[in-house]
This record gives sequence, structure tokens and C-alpha cells, in this order.
Amino acid sequence: MDVYSEIEELFTSGVSEEYLGEDVKLVEHMLQCADHARASGAPSELVIAALLHDIGHLLVDDAAAAHIAGEDAHHDEIGAQWIEARFPESVSEPVRLHVDAKRYLVSTDPLYMAKLSEASIHTLRLQGGLMDQDQIKDFFTLPGAKAAIQVRLWDDVAKIRDKATSTLDSFRIEIENLAGNR
Ligand SMILES: [Fe+2]
Repeated sequence: MDVYSEIEELFTSGVSEEYLGEDVKLVEHMLQCADHARASGAPSELVIAALLHDIGHLLVDDAAAAHIAGEDAHHDEIGAQWIEARFPESVSEPVRLHVDAKRYLVSTDPLYMAKLSEASIHTLRLQGGLMDQDQIKDFFTLPGAKAAIQVRLWDDVAKIRDKATSTLDSFRIEIENLAGNR
């Protein structure tokens, strides 16, 4: 199966309906996030990273159960591994780091926490909580850290219920070009 069809299948699977504790469906959230990236004039690898940033939730059957049980399903790492088998690092690394980017932003910007949804604050603790000074420094040296912060900021504002979005199909050419460049 080609990469676009794989993504389409995941986006239309039943798992995609709910977004753990958020007031928006997961796939709508990912499309909204990609629309923000596109509207900002971001390069296509960042647009597709935004589109796929939560794909890890679609790959784990028991993401909802883990959330209720108060565990962290590591959707960042699971998603990044799936993406790096199909796309260049410029797409997988921002996805791998988008959860740590939240920890980074909370730790360095006092106003940032106020912008997070309740569910996102809840998961912050499970994801490791605040970063200390060494972790902050280390994070920023990682490839893709800046891009991950970008994706994170779009992620946080992509939680509007029933907002009209672009279709997955509108990202098809970017997906095929990037998957072909791996
Ligand atoms: Fe997200």
C-alpha cells in the first residue's frame, strides 16, 4: 500500500473518532493543525509533521484506556517511528519532540501554561512535567526542536470543535513528494 493510502486508512479508522479528553475529534484536530501550518506559510515537511503529529494515537488500540488509567501511551515516539519509516527526518523529528516541546514551553514561558487545555495539563504530568535547566538546554540542541515548538503552538490552537478544515486529499501531493524523498 502506498503511504498516502496508509494514512487515509488510519484517518478513517474508528479509532480516529475521539481525541482523549479534548473537545474535538482527533482527525479534525490534526487537519486543523496542518491548516495552521499551511496558513503560516510553513515548508511542506512542517505542514505534514503538523498533519501527522498525533498519528501515534491512531496506531495504539488502547490509547483511550491508557489515558483513563492515567498512563502515558507515548504517542510521540510511536508516531515518530511510524513516520521515520516513510518520511525524511524533517517530518519525523518534530513529531517525536512535540510532547517535549510542550514541557519546554511550560518550563520557559510562564504565560504558556494558561493556553493549554485541561487535558493537555493533565497529560503534562504523565509526560514528565517541567524540565530543569539541563533538560531545557539539551532539548534545544536536538535536531527538530525548533520545528517541534512550531508544531506544538499550532497543536494547542487546533482544538476548535466542528471547525471547517482542508480535506486530507488536499495534502496528497505534499505527502507523496515527501515520502518519495526519503
Ligand atoms: Fe495534538
